[in-house]
Amino acid sequence: MSEAAWKLETVNVPLELASYFPSFEAGDTIDRYIERLFDWNQQGDTWIHCQAVAEQAKQLAERYGANIELAVLAGWIHDISTVIPDEEKFALGERYELVTADAERQVPFLLHQRLSAWIAEHVFGYDNAELLHAIECHTTLREDLELLDKVLFVADKLSWADSDAAPYIAAMRSAVEQSLEQAIDVYIADMLAYPGKLAVVHPWLEAAQITLEMERYYHSLTALSKPIIWGPVTARFRPLRQLLPNQQALVSNVSIVPMVEDRFVMIQLTDGRWELPGGTLEPNELPLDGLRREVREEIGGELLDYQLFGYFACESSADTAYREHIPHPRFIRLAGFGQVRLDGKPLNPPDGEQIATVDVVTIEEAERRFRSTGRDDLADFYLMGHYAWRQSQPQSDA
Ligand SMILES: [Fe+2]
Ligand SMILES: [Fe+2]
Repeated sequence: MSEAAWKLETVNVPLELASYFPSFEAGDTIDRYIERLFDWNQQGDTWIHCQAVAEQAKQLAERYGANIELAVLAGWIHDISTVIPDEEKFALGERYELVTADAERQVPFLLHQRLSAWIAEHVFGYDNAELLHAIECHTTLREDLELLDKVLFVADKLSWADSDAAPYIAAMRSAVEQSLEQAIDVYIADMLAYPGKLAVVHPWLEAAQITLEMERYYHSLTALSKPIIWGPVTARFRPLRQLLPNQQALVSNVSIVPMVEDRFVMIQLTDGRWELPGGTLEPNELPLDGLRREVREEIGGELLDYQLFGYFACESSADTAYREHIPHPRFIRLAGFGQVRLDGKPLNPPDGEQIATVDVVTIEEAERRFRSTGRDDLADFYLMGHYAWRQSQPQSDA
């Protein structure tokens, strides 16, 4: 995206929004048009806020490696829908099928993030998924958090006109020197300081909190948070509880931290190495079907459930794909935990790895075995699975 992209060809205003949008003038850039739009709606102060957010987002993007142009653009347009009164926000939210939470029925202002994204896409014609995602969750965050989402969220909170009066702002400003996540933590902790401080808690915010906790834990795992080399493949782990739709087609492997109740299943090859259960999908095999097959082959058991806690973004340096049907050179290996029922023996098909032992142990023992055989990556991987499992437990203190 370059400056040329900020030049609007036109705006596509549907009838129901016509009264809020001034006419388009030849040569309008997006910022000039939005300035006129806020003027037209007598909200000059919102434009001042949006410019401040854009400037702040630019600085954060520079510092944390996000796309700078997208950060600026997101700052300018994130609050575009605030020109629409709350009563009408709800009607439009319904009309465009954007209402998903009770919280949005109770506090229609919460819809402004999604309405702004809708306008960015349909009125201005922006189709950049990263941009739209960030605008769409700039007030509540959400479960699948990307870098630009965090940049815009923090920039927005630091740029309210009365920001400096808010007691948490100083803490947020010093936290953002450390990381975006720490700044977000300060803000969320303040918002949730006592029940009832927020009129409603949006479920996206609660989901985001769980994601952020998980990311924090992940960063404490030193082997897993570095690129891992598996033969010709470099794998980068990313904690996430839900795969983005555009990643589905890249999935070619599925791994599992297998569990029997609160204990962990380990597999040992005939040469003594402890290995990672799971494997490569067969042609046209769905991930869960492939995993079910791998659990049967390698563990000699039945897969009862599976919950994602991340994936490995893999890149192969080999000339050709490992198997003809799998994506190459980039592919995704899913990472999850799940319960298995041990009701048989590993099948040890002649063309696969030969499993000598299947053990069920505590997480501490699993970690010890992996580390003592030089597999810090797998020790961390099991710890990550253990963490995600604890997080999924009701009344867990994880
Ligand atoms: Fe906003
Ligand atoms: Fe804002």
